Amino acid sequence: MLNIQSHVSLKPYNTFGIDTNARYWVDVSSEDDLQTLLQLTEFIDEPKLILGGGSNVLLCHDFDGLVVKVNIQGIDIIRNEDNHIYVTAGAGVNWHELVMFCVQKGYAGVENLSLIPGTVGAAPMQNIGAYGVELEQLFESLTAIHISTGEKRTFTHSDCAFGYRESVFKRELKGQYIITTVTFQLDKQPTFHTRYGAIQETLAEMGVSDENLSIKAISDAVIRIRRSKLPDPAQIGNAGSFFKNPEISQPQFDTLKVQYPAMPGYPISNDVVKVPAGWLIEQAGWKGYRAGDAGVHAKQALVLVNYGNATGNEILLLAKKVQESVFAMFGITISPEVNIV
Ligand code: FAD
Ligand code: EPU
Repeated sequence: MLNIQSHVSLKPYNTFGIDTNARYWVDVSSEDDLQTLLQLTEFIDEPKLILGGGSNVLLCHDFDGLVVKVNIQGIDIIRNEDNHIYVTAGAGVNWHELVMFCVQKGYAGVENLSLIPGTVGAAPMQNIGAYGVELEQLFESLTAIHISTGEKRTFTHSDCAFGYRESVFKRELKGQYIITTVTFQLDKQPTFHTRYGAIQETLAEMGVSDENLSIKAISDAVIRIRRSKLPDPAQIGNAGSFFKNPEISQPQFDTLKVQYPAMPGYPISNDVVKVPAGWLIEQAGWKGYRAGDAGVHAKQALVLVNYGNATGNEILLLAKKVQESVFAMFGITISPEVNIV
């Protein structure tokens, strides 16, 4: 049943906690309802904003159109092969709920992505990643509905053109499709990814050794690390990393390293180095900065925060100042990861 409401505050529907309004708002819990909605003549020409958990958006204006909150539920095992299990989840399933389902059943591959906020349907949008694993490593396919034609299409891995925090849905097909289900290929025999960041150290603190290592232990370690590092949106408004980590050329990195010997960098190919934007922002003096209710988190400089009543434009202005000062200091452009609406 579709219940289209008008003049709805979006504050509860974005983790930045920005108080803007939607002209129209609807929660859609099945593919049939979605098809019905897209055929309603009075809404065909309305601009549409698709929302899952609202944990990767910065809302800068009232939305003069229809906000569609995708709430399609369901987790199903669709295929069981010798080495793999295939699981299909509705776009509205909470991402961490899916991770917990897999960890409890012993389906491996997704454990490093524990506790990422948001929904299954938004996960392929930016190829979510954390602690050495990206969604594309376990992605099999997805189904999506074209907003203008209602045509249903299956996207394979190569159709999605995944990159670091990128996919075809953020580029060529931006704003064209609503993702309805995602299918994952999970492993019966786990490959443990423990080399990234503080995972090994945290496992040791938890008393986990190579003998009793498990996907549950990795998931628990990742949850611990994330809770200690990242602000909880229920306490303080944020959308995780505001910027992507920039990729620069090896020669540019080498030159900067002479001036800033402590600058961290991770080679990602022969000639490209990824530099942590959090480090650049901290060096530029922004960590813990606050102007009104907009700020740069005191423990993680890559996270912009709303202390209460900041507007989207106040956060955006701060983001621009941060970008400019990082560029002035290092000659590096940092681009937003968050979707600015
Ligand atoms: P939303 O914010 O609702 O939407 C994000 C984008 O996807 C928007 O453009 C929206 O229009 C579009 N969209 C949403 N659902 C659909 C759909 N069904 N069909 C088509 N388009 C859709 N991300 C990481 O990659 N790694 C992390 O470690 C990480 N940590 C985070 C930590 C915190 C504390 C927070 C707040 C965020 C973090 N994020 C991280 C970002 C965020 O969790 C992910 O981007 C997540 O996938 C967003 O899901 P969502 O449902 O909230 O998407
Ligand atoms: N750093 C600083 N100061 C800071 C923050 C970070 O110097 O204030 C430096 C440190 O050198 C640290 C390095 O940055 O070693 C990396 O920091 P961290 O491990 O916290 O990771 P990140 O690069 O800030 C990325 C992702 C996160 C993901 C973590 C773990 C991006 C844009 N962000 O953060 O994803 O959870 O790694 O894998 O790639 C998100 O996308 O929203 C997100 C939170």
